[in-house]
Amino acid sequence: MKIPGSLCVISGASSGIGKASALELGQRGARVVLVARRAQELEQVEGEIRAAGGQAWAFPADLSRPEEAQRLGDWVLHELGTPEILIHSAGAGAWRFLDETPLEALQGLMDTPYFAAAYLTRVFLPAMLQQNRGFILSVCSPASRLVWPGATGYVAARWALHGLTEALRADLYPTRLRVCAFFPGKISDSEYFTRNTDTESRIPRIGRLIPEITSQQAALGIVRALEREARVWFVPWQLQAFDLLARCLPRLAEHLAWSSGARRKPQGY
Ligand SMILES: NC(=O)c1ccc[n+]([C@@H]2O[C@H](COP(=O)([O-])OP(=O)(O)OC[C@H]3O[C@@H](n4cnc5c(N)ncnc54)[C@H](OP(=O)(O)O)[C@@H]3O)[C@@H](O)[C@H]2O)c1
Repeated sequence: MKIPGSLCVISGASSGIGKASALELGQRGARVVLVARRAQELEQVEGEIRAAGGQAWAFPADLSRPEEAQRLGDWVLHELGTPEILIHSAGAGAWRFLDETPLEALQGLMDTPYFAAAYLTRVFLPAMLQQNRGFILSVCSPASRLVWPGATGYVAARWALHGLTEALRADLYPTRLRVCAFFPGKISDSEYFTRNTDTESRIPRIGRLIPEITSQQAALGIVRALEREARVWFVPWQLQAFDLLARCLPRLAEHLAWSSGARRKPQGY
């Protein structure tokens, strides 16, 4: 996929992986539409890209609401044209056991990333199909391949995003639209774990064997996945090695995740 000149819509562009990807793609000549709820943060990213000579547009929107996704789609298609690249990086939600999770939070976990990605893709898909060219990349969680305890709603929502991504690839098989499931390891400088309290401590200890990466390294991984039109991409490579191990030895992987993962207090399991 050619990056310079491509119109790229990025959700979750106000922080973390989405923001780093927007800056990286803007620097490489993509025309970037930045989407998230916080206007001020988006305008800052827009300013950084423009100051470096790139093109960017901040579009504040709550993607858990289909009408907001539609408003974004109408504006982009009317003002800028059909996107070549869609990056789904909006995501939120704390890690909890199912019965610890308030109902509203459980629904919120599905809103972003799953519904946000589904609404956004749905809005642009007809035009992208007409153009018969493009790339859709979802920032998925390793939790949709290697499951761990104490994050039930989070894991299920990430499976939903991963499932959407795989299903879209099947739907789009005969077209020239490509679809990628991108899996980053733990991001050392993301806001995710400060915004979702008591979540970081639930990462299974076995996960420490996989080196952390920065959001910039994740963004470079996304660039590589785009350039190679990859179906699936992992950063760092140790995550892929773990994934392979878990596929070959699922019972061992299950045991390691459980024995080094979150436990109930008082112990109920
Ligand atoms: N951090 C990690 O270690 C890690 C590792 C693997 C996978 N991931 C996955 O990658 C995704 C992004 O993580 P991150 O580390 O970049 O997190 P982050 O820094 O918290 O960024 C999340 C982004 O999503 C946006 N967002 C949340 N709800 C939204 C909504 N309703 N509408 C529009 N935008 C919304 C946030 O912006 P606003 O608040 O401004 O709306 C923010 O820009 C998540 O799904 C996460 O599960 C993260």
